[in-house]
Amino acid sequence: MNNQDSSEENRGQWGSKLGFIMAAAGSAVGLGNIWRFPYVTGENGGAAFVLVYLACVFFIGVPLLYVELSLGRASGRNPVGAFKKTGGGLPFILTGVLCLMACFFVLTYYGVIAGWTISYAWSEVTQSSLVFSEYTSNTASVLPVFAVFIALTIWIVSAGVEKGIEKWSKILMPLLFVMMVVIIVRSLTLDGAEKGLKYYLSPDFSKINGKVVLMALGQAFFSLSVGWGLMITYGSYMPKSQNIVTNGLWVASADTLVAILAGFMVFPAVFAFGMDPGAGPGLTFVTLPKVFAQMPAGWVFGTIFFCLLSVAALTSSISMLEVPVSYFVDKKSSARKKSAIIVGIVAFLIGIPSAMSKGGSEFFSNLEFFGKTGFLDIMDQVFGTLALIFISLMLSIYVGWVWKPASAIKEIEEGCPWFSKPLVGGIAPSQVWAFFIKYICPIVISLVLLNALGIFSEKESEPAEPTPEEQTSPEDNASSESQ
Ligand code: ALA
Repeated sequence: MNNQDSSEENRGQWGSKLGFIMAAAGSAVGLGNIWRFPYVTGENGGAAFVLVYLACVFFIGVPLLYVELSLGRASGRNPVGAFKKTGGGLPFILTGVLCLMACFFVLTYYGVIAGWTISYAWSEVTQSSLVFSEYTSNTASVLPVFAVFIALTIWIVSAGVEKGIEKWSKILMPLLFVMMVVIIVRSLTLDGAEKGLKYYLSPDFSKINGKVVLMALGQAFFSLSVGWGLMITYGSYMPKSQNIVTNGLWVASADTLVAILAGFMVFPAVFAFGMDPGAGPGLTFVTLPKVFAQMPAGWVFGTIFFCLLSVAALTSSISMLEVPVSYFVDKKSSARKKSAIIVGIVAFLIGIPSAMSKGGSEFFSNLEFFGKTGFLDIMDQVFGTLALIFISLMLSIYVGWVWKPASAIKEIEEGCPWFSKPLVGGIAPSQVWAFFIKYICPIVISLVLLNALGIFSEKESEPAEPTPEEQTSPEDNASSESQ
């Protein structure tokens, strides 16, 4: 993408179809797939959660991905500008502002986790195993790597070197995929791995409740980069000739595949090592080093894997910083560098409490809000889950009822003429899509949100407890290590 030229009529465009797919998939594939998906699955009952997640991705996430891309490309603007330019009133313009806030606030803690991946890569090089809870509670270890990660993000966004990133992503992301397959083979061949497979693949439908659906929907939006305004911004750089429908499907499929593979990497090992699948945000970080330790020359695999994970996190974090920066660039085209530096530094400062909330500061570690404990987990719940779901609701209402599906369909048809041609049973894909955007998405998302607010029943929003057989013994220190 050439983002140096950001004048009204030419804000820069993706160089090629692959350039867009790589950038959008780079935004989507990240810590959400490899760090967040396994632990959220573990906290919400395993296989049943995975099924609900898949339904959320393909029935709600993908239609909304098309909403964001078409709105972005039609307006050629950042999320706030996109609503304004297409005739959105104040509630929708405020939704655009919430997009900027969600990207910014998620970046503040996403950078902290990305910093952990850098430390874990280094610990594999030096073959010095990190104890997760000890490491994360040591602010002096966590803050410098967080700062390095944010500095890299600022550098890439301010220098406009996405081209380089796009080029490297084409090599590094397939390599990440290959590494994951190698790790899965080791994980699946550990003694006791079958219990993990059963947990991951045999759904127990009694575990599905309102909270599970809320978390699955939130995870789908987090992982797909939908509901952040990210894809509005990336869509605004998309040439008219590109196919929103197939490109969007590629991105969603790649993202979902990586998340599902992450589960195959983590759960067999979790059970083989007698850990607790519901151990929370440390799950991937505690499990994988143990898998590497069981591989010949495991530290080499460990180093490469955590380096690739840092790169995957970087291609996501640059998209988060890009959204607020694109807002300032749309106001003043020369503002890129300055706004990237200022927004990035403020994100670092606001991220400090998150960095200190895994034991570094008693106050930030014990804060409770929205059913979550600790500043980082609260930020993740508020901005990484609830805000994304709310924005997605507003997006479906806006495109379904205000801007109207016909406007979006006209935009989508530009690069995908078959979108509104009758295909199966005389029904056009555009009709199905419009039905989802007008009715299914707003109704389902509203029900999930209302349920989360406890409107239907108190009981339904109780957390899904692992069954006794999934629980490990309390004296299992591997599990407490990951808390
Ligand atoms: N969608 C990005 C991820 O999954 C933020 O990490």
